[in-house]
Amino acid sequence: MKIRYQNQSTPQFLDSILETMTLEEKIGQLVQADLSWDVDLESMVRSGAIGSLFTIKDVNLIHHYQDIAVNQSRLGIPLIIGNDVIHGFKTILPIPLAQACSWNPGLIEEAERMVTKEALYAGTHWNFAPMVDVARDPRWGRIAEGSGEDPFLGAAIAEARVRAYQAEAILPGRKMAACVKHFAGYGAAIGGKDYNSVDLSERSMREVYFPPFQAALNAGCKTLMTAFHDLNAIPATANTWLLVDMLRKEWGFDGLVVSDFDAIGELIHHGIAADHKEAALLAARAQVDMDMMGNAYPFHLKTLLDEGKIELDWINCAVRRVLTLKAELGLFEHPFVDPLQAEEIFLSEAHVKTAKKLADESIVLLKNDNHLLPFDPKGKTIAVVGPLANDCTSILGCWRFAGDLTRTETILDAMSRTYRDTTIRFAQGCTVTGEILNADSVSKVLEGADVCVCVVGEEESMSGEAHSRAFLDLPGQQKALVEHVSKSGVPTVLVVASGRPLVLTDLVPGVDALLMAWHGGTTAGAVIADVFCGVINPSGHLPVSMPRSIGQIPVYYAHNSTGRPVEARGVIQFNREHKSKYLDESNEPLYPFGFGLSYAHFKIGEVVLEKESFTKNEQILMRISVQNESNIRGATVVQVYVRDRVASVARPVRQLVWFEKLTLDRGETKKITAAILPKHFGFYDPSMTFVIEPGVYDVFVGFDSKAPQAGTFSITG
Ligand code: GLC
Repeated sequence: MKIRYQNQSTPQFLDSILETMTLEEKIGQLVQADLSWDVDLESMVRSGAIGSLFTIKDVNLIHHYQDIAVNQSRLGIPLIIGNDVIHGFKTILPIPLAQACSWNPGLIEEAERMVTKEALYAGTHWNFAPMVDVARDPRWGRIAEGSGEDPFLGAAIAEARVRAYQAEAILPGRKMAACVKHFAGYGAAIGGKDYNSVDLSERSMREVYFPPFQAALNAGCKTLMTAFHDLNAIPATANTWLLVDMLRKEWGFDGLVVSDFDAIGELIHHGIAADHKEAALLAARAQVDMDMMGNAYPFHLKTLLDEGKIELDWINCAVRRVLTLKAELGLFEHPFVDPLQAEEIFLSEAHVKTAKKLADESIVLLKNDNHLLPFDPKGKTIAVVGPLANDCTSILGCWRFAGDLTRTETILDAMSRTYRDTTIRFAQGCTVTGEILNADSVSKVLEGADVCVCVVGEEESMSGEAHSRAFLDLPGQQKALVEHVSKSGVPTVLVVASGRPLVLTDLVPGVDALLMAWHGGTTAGAVIADVFCGVINPSGHLPVSMPRSIGQIPVYYAHNSTGRPVEARGVIQFNREHKSKYLDESNEPLYPFGFGLSYAHFKIGEVVLEKESFTKNEQILMRISVQNESNIRGATVVQVYVRDRVASVARPVRQLVWFEKLTLDRGETKKITAAILPKHFGFYDPSMTFVIEPGVYDVFVGFDSKAPQAGTFSITG
């Protein structure tokens, strides 16, 4: 009897399906597979033993399996198709870490809506995004996929992404589900080594790693993905504190929880399950609804039920979550899309324009001595060197999904296309990882050049999942290449295209300008060409601290004071000041969180707090005057940080509590109002109760996390 969507209410409709399903068909809805699974996929879909497929980009192939599910299985329950559309489907946006540099959640939402449209039209129903893992260790390859080190910025972006992925009215009758991941604390993998253990206090979990997840779920995110790591020795995918106590009970989430790729089966490697049957039991107890690519649920849930180790109620609850999702996405009424429509919108002019709008704001100007930039190329000779200058693969970044290399313009091509009456000479100099530097070829193009654009960085395969690095230097001979260029005396713009912050400390003094371009996606070339000549005035600000050296890591701004802060007069022992610092390195990052330059110059003027004291239920209003002192229109990010001077636990030396990106015309002054919510500087006291304590708070206002103090206010209970 084929299920056909009668115009009933969803609950009634789902009850009617559940009543007719066999146990095998129910368990099938809890199984997700990709095409690499070593089974007869078509037979399993036809028998209802699989409810979801993922990592299928081709809409016709999706339709092939959907046709089997809908028209050849007993009940005709449609498949739900998941994909990792992390920063683009066909039109590729900058990697999420770069997008976070825009500090523009509204623009991220707009651009990711475009991505959602391409994905929906191409038959994807479920986006395994947003990835919201706070990351403070750039050795971790997946720092590329998130929004950096700060929970407040990360939460704002998480909300925007969920709104974009689950937007209404993109495809008539259909919607896409978002999937917030990886729950939780994955970015704190010890040593920055992917999949490694995570050891975090409950306070750190609640104050740093949970907020972006809560923001995503509060924005209506329909699904959540578990994580691979063990959290305090309990693997996240079997962690009932995470998945039941916090997610289901404290936060009240009743949506679908999917494991990460075989994360249930990996409980065996973690050493908490002897076999797949025990792994299935542990995951079921943690209310993981769907087994992604695992050999646990499909082959062991029935036995566990027969042995009375799990209840049929739990299976029915999990199946209902899957069927509810399919109904909410319109899959019962519209299991298919029109393949031709997708081709019409892929990389359309409008989509590429949207991508560029975000990419323009995702690049960060970190140095610009002597106002080298913007550089007027007319009549000039530009030496373009470096392996990423003529690369159209790496600049798409990790998780580039269906990105089209033939439609990705290199930086060199973009410059050649954009600049008129300009002589552009190119020498690659070296490859990204090769050990040979062809210095002569570089010297040749530098001769007589007015400026050098040196483009270096990482290949896309050096960041992302399972791609952590123990060193953060430029790979291969690239550092030697930059040093060679610096010796030439030609004014040099260093452009870094990478998936993470790199250690550039030794190179910065030898260049005149530094652009952190990250892996910028389809329009990366055009962005750099436009920023170089001033068509675009850069406005990006770092969402993560740039380390001076690997030894500092983790280096982040919202650290605690310690009992011997480097700023204070240290304790004198053995005739030496003992402070929390290194003998051989500064405590400070090379560039701090929130930092970014513009071709314009901005100044914070008067800052006026509405009053001196507030109750914990009042928002703290602050009038801020911001001036563009230059004769160039530009955008900047006004940031407000707060420090709780004395609290019942040690609090960070400062934490971001408000920001606003604003554009000012030449010479323009704007007065803006910051509205700070006390909950953003609340914390968990020694009893793990969330509190906003009375006391004195310092407030800092500026354009990065080193913002000067602008005032003080009190919370009076
Ligand atoms: C991967 C990743 C996860 C992704 C999933 C499906 O291993 O950890 O982020 O969504 O598998 O591809």
